[in-house]
Amino acid sequence: MNGFHYQLDHLTCEAVDLAQVAARFGTPSYVYSQGAILANFRRLCRPLESISGLICYSVKANSSLAILTLLAEAGSGFDIVSGGELARVQRAAADPKHVVFSGVGKTSEEINAALQAGILMLNVESAGELEMIESRVRQGGAGRAPVSIRINPDVEADTHPYISTGRTIHKFGVPKAEAVALYRRAASSPHLEVRGVACHIGSQILDLNPFLRAADEVLDLALGLRSEGIRPEYIDLGGGFGIPYKAELPFEFERLFAALASRFQGSGFRLLIEPGRSIVGGAGVLLTRVLYVKESQEKRFVVVDGGMNDLLRPALYGSYHEILPLAKRPGAPRPADVVGPLCETGDFLARNRDLPEVQPGDFVAVMDAGAYGYALASNYNSRPRPAEILVAGDKARLIRRRETVDDLTAGELL
Ligand code: LLP
Repeated sequence: MNGFHYQLDHLTCEAVDLAQVAARFGTPSYVYSQGAILANFRRLCRPLESISGLICYSVKANSSLAILTLLAEAGSGFDIVSGGELARVQRAAADPKHVVFSGVGKTSEEINAALQAGILMLNVESAGELEMIESRVRQGGAGRAPVSIRINPDVEADTHPYISTGRTIHKFGVPKAEAVALYRRAASSPHLEVRGVACHIGSQILDLNPFLRAADEVLDLALGLRSEGIRPEYIDLGGGFGIPYKAELPFEFERLFAALASRFQGSGFRLLIEPGRSIVGGAGVLLTRVLYVKESQEKRFVVVDGGMNDLLRPALYGSYHEILPLAKRPGAPRPADVVGPLCETGDFLARNRDLPEVQPGDFVAVMDAGAYGYALASNYNSRPRPAEILVAGDKARLIRRRETVDDLTAGELL
């Protein structure tokens, strides 16, 4: 369970009782297991070693500085999508040579900042963006901008439609044929250097076949480029490796890497991946406190102090997150809706979920909330965002203080 276990009927993170964390830091709060984050990262590192692969953790999944610093110290590179994420990885003392910049809407300021930082490569998503990068270098003076083109491999992946990206109906990347033209253009420019070929087909994908289909498409293109004398070094397969939220079988990394290794060994290409969720998703929970239990003839509502502004995934995607009481209680579970305090019917963390009896003042943990949890949190309903706590062994430390009401209005002008 990624660092979270029951010990004598009390849910713990590593060696720390989560009830004590809730009492000390308040709720709602995100709690992460440092050991689980590092174990997830290292599990991906090992198979990549034999092919000089590179992991660029996808910052958008969880961009807290303490977590970025932890991963930078463990040797991770980073996948960023904005100037804000660039500033974050710089503050986490990341090696810029291990940073890739994805995204369809990079501004000229963001491109300048990335070039100045000396990142590994910009993953270009359109002809217009390639022109923009070229013009930035032309105006900025010497050097070449390292680029890769993000291919849209037109691969179907079984996931939520909002987070599927690899079909040509999606806004991401460019089709293969157009990509070849862009590579020729980049290779002939004195301001650009072809560094890689990139793709990313979506998120929370549990089947490894779409990744292999995408890898084949990208490798095919890269080999074609080579035959023209254009030599990308990196093949960036993006992220998207799913995690089990319910009873799904875990992603078979070992099988994926074995299949990829046989394609990459001896090819001279370096494999790059951009995992986010698979590193932090299971390693974090949202702790929340039961405020009220409302029961009608039809429904039992458990009203908790964490809501859709704290964890948007259930409201936005209908996502399932397991909910566990911090102290196991006797009695048969019964269906309940676990809902937050916000004024929206969509403000729920779970619907029709079998839960044991809970009372006001009890704490529950919303599991597998380490990815796209805090990162998607907002101040909707003027709610300060939660605190974040990192646990290592028997120590829990605050890595982001809870926002205050003053934080909410700071920056506003009358
Ligand atoms: N690389 C690129 C270019 C991406 O767009 C993404 C995620 C990743 C890597 C990391 O994907 P991961 O390994 O975490 O699946 N908010 C949604 C997920 C959105 C994913 C966006 N892109 C959710 O809560 O499920």
